Amino acid sequence: MAQTRAFAVFLDEYAGLLRKGQLVAFPTETVYGLGADATNSEAVLRIYETKGRPRFNPLIVHCGDMAMAERLAEFSPLAHRLAEKFWPGPLTLVLPKKPDAGLSDLVTAGLDTVALRIPGHALARHLILAVGRPVAAPSANRSGRISATTAQQVTADFGAAVRVMDGGRTKAGIESTIIAIAGDDVVQLRPGAVSREDIEAFLGRPVGVVGAGNAIAAPGMLKSHYAPRARLRLDAEAPLNGEAWLGFGPGAPRPGLAMNLSRAGDLREAAANLFQMLTTLDKAGAQAIAVATIPEQGLGEAINDRLRRAAAPRD
Ligand code: TXA
Ligand code: MG
Repeated sequence: MAQTRAFAVFLDEYAGLLRKGQLVAFPTETVYGLGADATNSEAVLRIYETKGRPRFNPLIVHCGDMAMAERLAEFSPLAHRLAEKFWPGPLTLVLPKKPDAGLSDLVTAGLDTVALRIPGHALARHLILAVGRPVAAPSANRSGRISATTAQQVTADFGAAVRVMDGGRTKAGIESTIIAIAGDDVVQLRPGAVSREDIEAFLGRPVGVVGAGNAIAAPGMLKSHYAPRARLRLDAEAPLNGEAWLGFGPGAPRPGLAMNLSRAGDLREAAANLFQMLTTLDKAGAQAIAVATIPEQGLGEAINDRLRRAAAPRD
């Protein structure tokens, strides 16, 4: 009981900050989120300012339970099925926003849709339910940089000004998969911690990908993103002189500055390690990082998406 009371006091402190319009960084099962009360425009504005995020890039709204989610968006039968199967968990659904949702227009960047998810991390859900309001949260990193998978990394990016709820290292290590549903169309806007194959297997039909001739826009998909300071060279067979190495799968250990996303060649393990290892190699002073080939199946789609953005020319 004493522990339960201590937990309630701990939650209340952070929930109180959010209710007052302050930012709180919190763990989810994917990456840390930089949270604000999604109904308070001043609070949401603070997210954009703190991250240095372009205002046309809308935010994901995190809900504590299905009742909260249904107050914000219209769920078609198809949307319901996906929510029932994958929530709580790392799937974000872009759905028609209810006119009386009460969300700040800054959250949706003026769109008539809203991106929703119920996170799979119990601490996140308890926090949102304690606030009693939906919480808008992008990944807790400066815009364009590597997403934070530990509380320490959030503080390294923002300093002591942003309060962080420490929930240890995040499990999936890569952001949620974003799916847009418009009528009978299901389109993946961003690959992520739920593989497209898993969604297709559940629905029993193919899921479109954005850019492949479909009309649904993904406003925030900036080409250069998740960028470490070091340059990245992808699909490398071996490090060249002076390059650090980020390997995948078995093989002889490399000399020099080298890490392996998963010696076993496990894509789930590789996704969980990706941002952390890029940060570690960056901090170790690597000027360039050569990255081994990652297969494009399953979670490999999301890993390669992040690597390509991290390798893209800046500006
Ligand atoms: O795992 C995650 O999804 C993490 C954790 C904190 O939940 N959040 C996250 O948020 O990755 P962020 O802001 O880094 O990425 C949100 C993406 C952006 O690419 C944005 O453009 C897209 O969601 N998005 C948000 N609302 C949208 C909408 N109405 N229509 C289309 N895309 C939307
Ligand atoms: Mg992000």
